[in-house]
Amino acid sequence: MCGIFAYAGDENAVPFLIEGLRAVEYRGYDSAGIAVVDEHGDIRTVKRGDHKASLENLAQTVIGGELSGNVGIGHTRWATHGEVNQKNSHPHTSHNSSVAIAHNGIIENFLQLKDELIESGIVFLSDTDSEVLAHLVGIAVESGASLRESVVRAAARIKGNTAVVAVSVNEPEKVVGLRVGNAGGIVVGSNAHSSVMASDTIALLPHTRQVVYLEPGEVVEIEAGAVRLFDLDGNAIYRQPVEIGRNFEAAKKGNYAHFMSKEIAEQPDAIQSAMRGRANFATGALSLPEVELTQHQIKSIDRVVLTGMGTSLHAGMFGASVIESLARIPSVAENSSELRYRDPVLGPKTLVVAVTQSGETADTLAAMEFARQAGSPLAVVLEIDGSQATRVADFTLPVRAGQEIGVASTKTLIASMTTLLQLAVFLARARGAISENRVAEIVGMLAGLPSYVSAALDLDSEVSSLAGRLSEFADLLFLGRGAQLPVALEGALKMKELAYIHAEGYPAGEMKHGVNALLGPDMATVVCAPTNNLYEKMLSNISEVKARGGEVAVIATVGDESAQRVADHVIYVPECPELLQPFVTVVPLQILAYRTALVLGRDPDKPRNLAKTVTVE
Ligand code: AGP
Repeated sequence: MCGIFAYAGDENAVPFLIEGLRAVEYRGYDSAGIAVVDEHGDIRTVKRGDHKASLENLAQTVIGGELSGNVGIGHTRWATHGEVNQKNSHPHTSHNSSVAIAHNGIIENFLQLKDELIESGIVFLSDTDSEVLAHLVGIAVESGASLRESVVRAAARIKGNTAVVAVSVNEPEKVVGLRVGNAGGIVVGSNAHSSVMASDTIALLPHTRQVVYLEPGEVVEIEAGAVRLFDLDGNAIYRQPVEIGRNFEAAKKGNYAHFMSKEIAEQPDAIQSAMRGRANFATGALSLPEVELTQHQIKSIDRVVLTGMGTSLHAGMFGASVIESLARIPSVAENSSELRYRDPVLGPKTLVVAVTQSGETADTLAAMEFARQAGSPLAVVLEIDGSQATRVADFTLPVRAGQEIGVASTKTLIASMTTLLQLAVFLARARGAISENRVAEIVGMLAGLPSYVSAALDLDSEVSSLAGRLSEFADLLFLGRGAQLPVALEGALKMKELAYIHAEGYPAGEMKHGVNALLGPDMATVVCAPTNNLYEKMLSNISEVKARGGEVAVIATVGDESAQRVADHVIYVPECPELLQPFVTVVPLQILAYRTALVLGRDPDKPRNLAKTVTVE
């Protein structure tokens, strides 16, 4: 979490810092600030801690103002230690302002270090853990160490994963960046006039397409046109820059009101993209060239564990159900924050598939690391190319949805599900669990998937009316069974995340085991009940809710008249093969959360207390 951007070049750093922070703001928007080394060699900081308005307020203050300098660092914060206010905003400075730092991560031993620093006479100006780093770097600089050496020394004192950038009045032409562990990456690039570094490649695109990713335990110095990489012992490292394949246009809203509405609308394209070069609609064949497993390994897999967090976990649940049903391999999906700590039995016969949009989620990376050490073949289903997860995994299955900026995951969910379904078909065929004809049949179904999802997008006005009604409830229940369970869980997650309405996702069969006690007129229930083998059971659940005075909305298949007879509201999704139903039922739930958020005056792109990339536990 938190976004970092740094610039060292021939021009005024201020507009570049603001532009860079806009690109990484999705990582945290509680506060924003910059520190610039001005023409006198002094460090000047400007910070705002106005919640979601911080960056815009900062921009209004500094753009076109008198602050200027060729070197600077900037930060957008997702608060962990200390309230959201100006004093806790980064960058933080050392006691005599000789050093400024911007930090991403958590300093686990900060209380102990803070006490030690206070005892030595340092006065703290914020409640953050990060300020400790500013003072530690400052003390090392004052002792005569170079900025690079000072940052390394400071980092050696702290516990926890960290990414930090720093400037010093002693070396005013330079920014130093350091990465320890997996707390978000640092990526660096340069052109003839400037060098830049950031938490995300997207922020570097206006400057260069050639970038270098810092590995944990590496430190970098940048100045105008020069980038120097070192290990923590000071040995120079040479790493060939890689070309960024991403597109800056993705980081713009275009004519859409929000990134989320743009990204919902992009889902048919995201599906196409996830199938490109894999599903061959002309021949009915399916290949997954990225899978780096031998035929022997594929045959010897006796279990698949999918892991991820939040929406990515829901994609993993879908993946587990299709891998098990098609490839006939026992498959489970497990929350990475549980998997990493429970000492699970993994090994060479368990294929572990991590699902992560960002490739930076701390818990997912830790679970992947555990799997790697246990000797499991390890795949990652991922959006952000070049992220840490690609380096931990044995192989990467890119989902290719295109950069997702809205905090709520939408198109990356759909593209991950598309990728996982293809993985299921691939494994099934490779193990002989399904015939070539069945592969061709499924590929034929996949050909229609973008248009089924397009048709689901047309439900906006019906879903908007339902959103108006559901926005009046304080509690909502989302029910599903089988492949619709992850959809129900996702619908509830989206509603909590965007509309701030308490919502629970449940297996419909669990109702009688306790949840029914909540039913009544104060809680509305959304039921995912497309026409399939579990439909009759879902109808019974709906009747039970109605019998207890609850209001019910059903996501049903077009033509289903029974749904209309039993429920208060029906959203009809297009008819499609049962295997693809989760793709069409999840879309109205995404729109429902988006529209409900708007009815309630929430900002769907910047839900409170959240950030797009969760790089701390
Ligand atoms: C949901 O809308 C969220 N964006 C969140 O649950 C997300 O899916 C989760 O934090 C995992 O992120 P990742 O895919 O980047 O690993």
